[in-house]
Amino acid sequence: MKIEVTEAHLLAQIDLDRLPQHIAIIMDGNGRWANKRQLPRIAGHRAGIRAVRQAVEACARLGVACLTLYAFSVENWKRPRSEVKLLMALLREYLKKEVPELNRQNIRLGVIGRVSELPPPVQLDLKMAIKSTEANTGLRLTLALNYSGRAELIDAVRAIARGAKRNGFAEINEQTISDRLYTRGMPDPDLLIRTSGEMRLSNFLLWQIAYSELWVTNTLWPDFKQSDLFQAIIDYQKRERRYGGLT
Ligand code: IPE
Ligand code: IPE
Ligand code: MG
Repeated sequence: MKIEVTEAHLLAQIDLDRLPQHIAIIMDGNGRWANKRQLPRIAGHRAGIRAVRQAVEACARLGVACLTLYAFSVENWKRPRSEVKLLMALLREYLKKEVPELNRQNIRLGVIGRVSELPPPVQLDLKMAIKSTEANTGLRLTLALNYSGRAELIDAVRAIARGAKRNGFAEINEQTISDRLYTRGMPDPDLLIRTSGEMRLSNFLLWQIAYSELWVTNTLWPDFKQSDLFQAIIDYQKRERRYGGLT
């Protein structure tokens, strides 16, 4: 009950006409959450799924257009094989369980990253989940999987070079680069959230966050609730975005 009161209180402070159009989240701290409880790291990842539901539902409820979640980085392959395997299994479980709920909430699922390097069964589940939600017109939920901002830029430059070879020339400007990124067609994130207190980007959306507002909380990802997302938006709405100019 107390939680609901806090949530409603925060919700009332949000200006719905000035919502961030795109929120990106670096979901960090699952391992530390588990460690604190003397549980295996995977228990933290499992608990992290609850937080994913909270963030997704909060964005859908508010009417945020895009939510992008950093779920697995290219660098995360460096982790023990057993952890990676369990993460992939959890992802498949999430997709299976969650698709009906995504449809119920009118959410369209997408993915960014080098998807073709993911295990084939994961690719198949992703394809099916994306297909099954493609007609939805509400929140655009994007999972960053096997994602790296530098890899994304490398892929964009390669695509531009191929085009140049084919056509004998290439137009290179901000728009043509943005159009070659995995996020083509999406607005750049207005708000970037990172949990668990780490003050770094860890190779997330390097090009797209040029002018994003950053919001870091010490809360570990499995403890993240709708009220945390509301608080981030309230703080975001107090920021003055200048884009290098004067106001
Ligand atoms: C984030 O939690 C989830 C993934 C990177 C998949 P971590 O697993 O990085 O948790 P910490 O940072 O070790 O606490
Ligand atoms: C960033 O978290 C990647 C994801 C949230 C998927 P990490 O835990 O992998 O980042 P570092 O190692 O702390 O930079
Ligand atoms: Mg981490």
